[in-house]
Amino acid sequence: MAKVYEAMRRAEEERKRRAGSEPSPVAPVEWEPVVQTVTPSKSSLWKRMFGRSRPRAQRDAANEINKRRIALLQPDSYVAEQYRSLRGRLDAIAAQRPLRTLVVTSPMPGEGKTTAAVNLACVSSLSVGRKVLLIDCDLRRPQVHKTLGLRPETGLAEVLMDRATLDDSIVSVEGVNLDVLPVRSLPGNPSELLGSEKMQTLIEDASGRYDRIVFDTPAALGLPDAKVVCDLCDGLILVVRADVTSQHDVQATLETLDRRRVLGMILNGTPADQGRYGYSS
Ligand SMILES: Nc1ncnc2c1ncn2[C@@H]1O[C@H](COP(=O)(O)OP(=O)(O)OP(=O)(O)O)[C@@H](O)[C@H]1O
Ligand SMILES: [Mg+2]
Repeated sequence: MAKVYEAMRRAEEERKRRAGSEPSPVAPVEWEPVVQTVTPSKSSLWKRMFGRSRPRAQRDAANEINKRRIALLQPDSYVAEQYRSLRGRLDAIAAQRPLRTLVVTSPMPGEGKTTAAVNLACVSSLSVGRKVLLIDCDLRRPQVHKTLGLRPETGLAEVLMDRATLDDSIVSVEGVNLDVLPVRSLPGNPSELLGSEKMQTLIEDASGRYDRIVFDTPAALGLPDAKVVCDLCDGLILVVRADVTSQHDVQATLETLDRRRVLGMILNGTPADQGRYGYSS
């Protein structure tokens, strides 16, 4: 836990330094996970990276989507580099223990899970010879297909309800070696479907075909969905939004999920390190 809280503390310290007040004390810590800081948080930086020169009229939903698939659109960007670094860290773990199935979740909504899952899947798929599948397990507010510009005719719910096959539902993303199992219809019983035997079979089936499977999930606090998926997978990465996610929520999430599966954390939106790369806000 040390690196998690240390990273959160540094982000908070930086924010408070800018606001002219002292940082709060560090929380107690227990384990040493991977910690990867990713993505700048300031809107000015986002504008600079993703379309400042474009006329306002063009900064519509498409631009919002482009922001999220950085690794695909801007492979040389600092953000894409951070995701590659995370991929390297995960590969190092995978050399020591099974890590075919990897869940991305966060304590609360809107902390950057889908952004992280899409980008991590994209950079993972860029490894030579590696087959990667991204599964959208957010059966309530799915965003993966929108983020990647896909128009699925069928998806996870249909497969789990035996209305479509996995093969029929997997979509390939143009330009990268990435397959996606998106969400098409929203079922009335998402948690039950995600925890079903059929889901287990699906994961086993996909594990036989792909080297890495990344699962995007809803927030872990308040809904059983993320936990249900985590329990079926090898590891999970927790996305934490700098200056937004509280330590209390991180702690509560770690208590909710199986700690043995927690590999580390993505600290999303931290201002740390931006200066070194010539960014300012
Ligand atoms: N570091 C960042 N800086 C600025 N905006 C970001 C950052 N990361 C993600 N976003 C934006 O925050 C919003 C929420 O991101 P995203 O959809 O990835 O979160 P989520 O955790 O998947 O949300 P939900 O819980 O609703 O599924 C999106 O508009 C995304 O573009
Ligand atoms: Mg999401």
